[in-house]
Amino acid sequence: MTAARTGRPGDLRDPRGDPRGDPAGGPRRDLGGHDGPGGSGSPGGLGEREALAADAEHAEHTEHAGGAGGAGKPVCRRAEFLVPPAPAACRYPEVAYFAGNSLGLQPRAARAAISAELDDWALHAVEGHHRAAHPWLPYHAELREDAAALVGAFPDETVVMNSLTVNLHLMMATFYRPAGERTRIVIEDHAFSSDSYAVRSQAVHHGLDPDETVVRLRPREGEDCLRTEDITDYLAREGHRVALVLLGGVNYLTGEFLDIPAVTAAGHAAGCLVGWDLAHAAGNVPLALHDWDVDFAAWCSYKYLNAGPGAVAGCFVHRRHVTDPELPRLAGWWSTEQATRFEMRPELVPVPTADAWQISNPPILAMAPVRVSLRMFAETGMAALRERSLALTGYLERLLTEVARDRPLEIVTPADPARRGAQLSLRVTGGGAGAVGVADLAARLHEVHGVLADVRRPDVIRFAPVPMYSTFHDCWRAADALAGEVRPA
Ligand SMILES: Cc1ncc(COP(=O)(O)O)c(C=O)c1O
Repeated sequence: MTAARTGRPGDLRDPRGDPRGDPAGGPRRDLGGHDGPGGSGSPGGLGEREALAADAEHAEHTEHAGGAGGAGKPVCRRAEFLVPPAPAACRYPEVAYFAGNSLGLQPRAARAAISAELDDWALHAVEGHHRAAHPWLPYHAELREDAAALVGAFPDETVVMNSLTVNLHLMMATFYRPAGERTRIVIEDHAFSSDSYAVRSQAVHHGLDPDETVVRLRPREGEDCLRTEDITDYLAREGHRVALVLLGGVNYLTGEFLDIPAVTAAGHAAGCLVGWDLAHAAGNVPLALHDWDVDFAAWCSYKYLNAGPGAVAGCFVHRRHVTDPELPRLAGWWSTEQATRFEMRPELVPVPTADAWQISNPPILAMAPVRVSLRMFAETGMAALRERSLALTGYLERLLTEVARDRPLEIVTPADPARRGAQLSLRVTGGGAGAVGVADLAARLHEVHGVLADVRRPDVIRFAPVPMYSTFHDCWRAADALAGEVRPA
């Protein structure tokens, strides 16, 4: 078991027994801060005071850094979110939340947005389709521009609908067309399970053997992340057998941000179609899907986009496809043009936008928080968020590197900031930490320290400092808690 059962909050004092923090070893009540082993002016900058100072400095420096339409909005908008309370044993009132790559925090505005739709439903009933403050008939269109800006697309290439895996299937209904020897689907070996199930079921749907059809790209022996050249080499070599490349833009486990334009170009050079699962990329890293020539992409809205559990997802289809009426698509009444939808014709009138992939009328109560969230991103701007994200993640990396130096911990996320987003994944190595060990560690981090990270079994714990609401002090708390809970090797 790696986690030391100290029974008290850990801190960044010298774990070998130099009690620079609280000599009694009890909970510290002052938030004035103290310096850990990095100490004031140390290269690691590990002191609590530095973290608090960095927060104060960032609040000043970013106050007017808003993106398009968001002048005057601070980049860190923590006050606009509901941060869960910390467990009673913890000396801080709120959790230090690092699971925004799993489920983002609730924006305070979400409840009011849902309530407003309930009120319009009460007031207008069916008339709400036209008379609601945000009329329901064209509701999804209101989200289009903000969603497009988020992923670097034209509005006609973007639609908010369904959930992520459903959208991947709808995309594959169009873009996975196995023929002749070109039947394979390429995914990462570390693909999220849902993607793996989805592509395997697509193979079966086409009467193919999933074990032969689905190719899982593995990192090199002894490495955790895929190398771009290994993906592009595979496509140059075997691409003539590949119908579809479907990779995660940011890998859920390692946090690796793949080189989307390079991989897309290599896929196209080999005659493949290339789609991306952007669950961990949307709202996390800057994207330019149109310019990168991506064929299609889908993402969820409940992680970095903070739109709530199971929130309505997003989808991108490149312009060259949306304007092709011949493409096979699964359709429903929301696929046809709005002007003639209620004429109830037997055949639809195709629309030259990503709306053509919509099937059903959108769930308005579920769309309301997505509208709120996309607005927040449009106001703040991905460029400003990325700048803060690089600073926060870099800071957390410095702290975790210092903590990991003499502990059985290893950062598996790429060290190059360009190859990662806001997530750092830590492998808990040796020390007997197996499936129970890492889950137990996460539970201790939460219960004792109020640090909420999440575990991916068997041995990875993920920390996502989310630029819209996480602070440098949160990062310090995470490192401090780990230092207290993981015994030096
Ligand atoms: C990378 C990735 N793909 C797919 C999914 C599944 O998403 P959904 O349940 O919204 O279809 C998730 C969920 O966390 C994910 O992280």
